[in-house]
Amino acid sequence: MDKLVIRSGKKLNGTVAASGSKNSALPVIAATLLSPDGTFSINRIPDLKDVRTFIQLLEYLGAAVSFKNNRLEVCSSNLKSIEAPYELVKQMRASIYVLGPLLARFGHTRVSLPGGCAFGPRPVDLHIMAMEKLGATVTIEQGFIDAKVNGSRLRGAQIDFPISSVGATGNALMAAVTAEGTTVLENAALEPEIECLCQFLQKMGANISDIGTTKLVIEGVDQLKAVEFDNIFDRIEAGTLLGAAAITGGSVTVTGTVPEHLGSVLDAFRQAGCAVTIEGDAISLDAPEELQPVDITARPYPEFPTDMQAQWMALMTQARGDSTIIDRIYLERFNHLPELNRLGAHIEIRDNQALVHGPQELTGTKVMSTDLRASACLVLAGLVAKETTEVLRVYHLDRGYESIEKKLSALGADITREKYQEFS
Ligand code: EPZ
Repeated sequence: MDKLVIRSGKKLNGTVAASGSKNSALPVIAATLLSPDGTFSINRIPDLKDVRTFIQLLEYLGAAVSFKNNRLEVCSSNLKSIEAPYELVKQMRASIYVLGPLLARFGHTRVSLPGGCAFGPRPVDLHIMAMEKLGATVTIEQGFIDAKVNGSRLRGAQIDFPISSVGATGNALMAAVTAEGTTVLENAALEPEIECLCQFLQKMGANISDIGTTKLVIEGVDQLKAVEFDNIFDRIEAGTLLGAAAITGGSVTVTGTVPEHLGSVLDAFRQAGCAVTIEGDAISLDAPEELQPVDITARPYPEFPTDMQAQWMALMTQARGDSTIIDRIYLERFNHLPELNRLGAHIEIRDNQALVHGPQELTGTKVMSTDLRASACLVLAGLVAKETTEVLRVYHLDRGYESIEKKLSALGADITREKYQEFS
């Protein structure tokens, strides 16, 4: 198993390019199942564990896939299965993204229920509601979602989401683009990753209007074609790298971004005293001598993203004063908190609100990753903690960050990846 060993005291300085987004790559890869017509070429796909798992799923279904130098080639002409097996879905809940495309293409699919994750139950009731609205009968049996189209084809429908759901919006879009007639998605997710999926579907020949709003109107088309497409940048990776500059008192520029996708995060960095400048696709952050405490509440886009909440908590341990962190999307997404306190932070939980007392000097020790963004939080804390921090079980980190230790080393961090054994 791998761990990251981080020796502190280094201010991070320099320029680093953002990788492609994981959370747009996964639905975009799923959408290639919609067309039997030839080979897709998708650029800027990050080389991540989750992407590799999704490729395994596509190959299990019968697609021909090649992936090198961040370019993915997919041909879904000869699919041979309509089932997403438990073994793969359990590894990566985003496998649920094959529900919409397989149902639209074959009229029937069986997808293992993804189950929960480290920070709570991750229901899929809104995904199922959307498929039923589009004319499918969905049953849950033996841990599988079994969805069958009534009649020959899905039919356009009015789908009102009671809460904003990135995944359910994505699945509804992929099911609706070849449905008979018009589909209206109300309260659709606004995340840039969904906008990216809409652009991809549009390029394939789908007819989606008002992209980038919470009301998407889709006119079903009869067929979609294989295309070349460029994935967007990973805004959470970019935010994490800027956080590494902020927590170490450094100065870092991240290139290849769309700055407005990080609006609320850049605002928070500025409120914390960081100088943030934008030049084209480059975001530069100069850390202040002393960080100011900034309260954040994680909400759907364009508010502060839940996937940056853990990283922000690490940063606030160094702020001069107390700050409050609330997550309105995953109320209990605080698994990183006990490990931060083991590094010397002083953070309390009251009524699902984390109260971070700062500044707290952190001292390195061994800490355990529990999920993807908790791992990123512990890496940021390790960069500023005295002595040496060992972040264990970095397989969590590898799900969503492409060679992060190489990027941080290039910025001046003393960080290495090492093998270790766990007690069985
Ligand atoms: C996506 O998950 C992201 N994953 C998550 O990123 C991210 O945290 C989340 O969106 C919120 O932004 C991918 O894109 C692969 P949701 P998703 O459906 O689609 C509830 C990371 O670190 N809900 O927008 O699963 C749900 O419980 C990962 O990269 C239902 O109640 O999230 C949550 O409270 C972690 N029923 C809220 O909606 C449903 O059917 C938002 O979840 C679906 C969701």
